[in-house]
Amino acid sequence: MQPIIEIRNLSKTYAGGFQALKDVNLEIREGEILALLGPNGAGKTTLISIVCGIVNATAGSVTVGGHDIVRDFRKTRALIGLVPQELTTDAFETVWDTVSFSRGLFGKPKNPAHVEQVLKSLTLWDKRKQKIMTLSGGMKRRLMIAKALSHEPRILFLDEPTAGVDVELRREMWELVRELRKTGVTIILTTHYIEEAEEMADRVAVINKGEIILVEDKAELMRKLGKKRLTLHLQEPLKKIPKGLSGNGLALSEDGFELTYEYDTRAERIGVTQLLADLNAAGVRLKDLGTEQSSLEDIFVDLVRNGR
Ligand SMILES: Nc1ncnc2c1ncn2[C@@H]1O[C@H](COP(=O)(O)OP(=O)(O)O)[C@@H](O)[C@H]1O
Ligand SMILES: [Mg+2]
Repeated sequence: MQPIIEIRNLSKTYAGGFQALKDVNLEIREGEILALLGPNGAGKTTLISIVCGIVNATAGSVTVGGHDIVRDFRKTRALIGLVPQELTTDAFETVWDTVSFSRGLFGKPKNPAHVEQVLKSLTLWDKRKQKIMTLSGGMKRRLMIAKALSHEPRILFLDEPTAGVDVELRREMWELVRELRKTGVTIILTTHYIEEAEEMADRVAVINKGEIILVEDKAELMRKLGKKRLTLHLQEPLKKIPKGLSGNGLALSEDGFELTYEYDTRAERIGVTQLLADLNAAGVRLKDLGTEQSSLEDIFVDLVRNGR
């Protein structure tokens, strides 16, 4: 099947000389949720902005639904709904008017039934006559999505949909995106939260310093990323790892005061409780312990070190 978006050798150098994208190649499949995962400044917004025709590429090409984004700008833009990173709305407009107006911007004829359906699916129907300034933060975010869906796009871009929102609202957004996918819309979301990519995506593309360094099915990526490290601070230093506990992913610090245990959150080699019991049985006394999950930073370091 032809991908719904095909990005070929795409580069972007901003006026001033900064290269934000370097030879990006990416295919997006119809109906999938793709998470574009990368730290701030990686080039996520630049990439989305080019596909949406807001920013011009320096080199390379993009097709959307088989059409070139430059030659057939109107066609490709009409296929896309964009929820930008910065929420912008007119405070004094009503919910109904702003969504209807967005549809008009794409030259689509009025379709109150569609606007109604979009508002209902985003649980904004009861608020349709309210002015935007009266809405809560969560409702404003849903309204931005409603606007992006007003012209019946086949593709929805969500640029950092949950940056800076609380946990509850984040969960609500995730649920919403899953519901939207069921309608057949292809969804591309950018995020710098691994957790979000893990929660939402069918596939994950990792971008760093303008380069796509990895594109992988979520399950496979999470297997690679799902490492956790448990650090055990000991009361008395050890000379070596106690017998029967070596070879299990345990490492001893040089001064003998710290044991670290690396394990996979999905496939633990030995259970943490078992490890603690074994240490206790071996007479090792703990002062303190802590865990860390591998961070995006670690992953990049790993990927770069492995020459990917
Ligand atoms: N209009 C611009 N002019 C110059 N540099 C820009 C412009 N927009 C973005 N950049 C730079 O390009 C890089 C990528 O930015 P962006 O695409 O916004 O990253 P992300 O969305 O991943 O945080 C950043 O270093 C940013 O400072
Ligand atoms: Mg951004």
